[in-house]
Amino acid sequence: MLSSSGPIGVFDSGVGGLSVLRHIRTQLPTENLIYFADSGYAPYGDKPEEFVIERSFKIAGFLLEQDIKALVVACNTATAAAIHLLRDNYPDLPIVGVEPGLKPATTKTITGIVGVMATERTLASNKFHVLHQLLNDQTGVHFIMQPCPGMADLIEHAELDSEAIFSLVHRYLGPLLEQKADTIVLGCTHYPFIRHVIEKVAAEYSNRALNIIDTGYAVARQLKHLLDIYGLNCRKKNPEGTMRAFTSGNPETISRLILRLLQTDMPVFYASL
Ligand code: SIN
Repeated sequence: MLSSSGPIGVFDSGVGGLSVLRHIRTQLPTENLIYFADSGYAPYGDKPEEFVIERSFKIAGFLLEQDIKALVVACNTATAAAIHLLRDNYPDLPIVGVEPGLKPATTKTITGIVGVMATERTLASNKFHVLHQLLNDQTGVHFIMQPCPGMADLIEHAELDSEAIFSLVHRYLGPLLEQKADTIVLGCTHYPFIRHVIEKVAAEYSNRALNIIDTGYAVARQLKHLLDIYGLNCRKKNPEGTMRAFTSGNPETISRLILRLLQTDMPVFYASL
């Protein structure tokens, strides 16, 4: 039985989902949040689909033991691989996933060419393929897929301004810009943390403004909407909800990363799943 006083569970392969958590915090400030960083098993993007499904179920099970009332799969790779299975298995639980923002990109592009940066697994998924094909048929917008191996991993290691991250962004973004993409979809929740690098690199190619699509805000809005529908909004008038995190990796490392990425502190506990 789900309770409106329960926390909301949010998970990702690592710290990328914090880019979604910050929007949830802003839009639902009184809710209690539990974040799970599966850093002991990250990255997901180059792992077999079965592996990502298995991890998603383990984490969902763990978060349900913490009495969550809703689940946010704040990882594009896990959403593509597992969200339909999670919904089948937990039909009463509100579950929100993250999908690359292809639709908003079609309304922004002027050149009609959109670059999608994501993990190999997300881009190879059937869910993504169907969406991209449908939008291409409906709008004529051409999507260029750019797998970005290694990028989420560098962000996991707090490389937000290093030479290595600039060089990877050059390698992946450069060809998209050369092919006249004027809109870039961030198809991995880690990438908003290097938006400044993407903007800097883009400025070296052209002085035209680049549209960057990040779906964190829309995901938090969808969560709010679902909580309304289910009647599960936190009814307490407490000024601020609590936040805590669990990780299958090193809690000290995650704690430092949370501070760096969100400029806020929360307790982080180890969980062996
Ligand atoms: C990864 O773990 O490879 C990135 C996860 C994502 O797609 O958000």
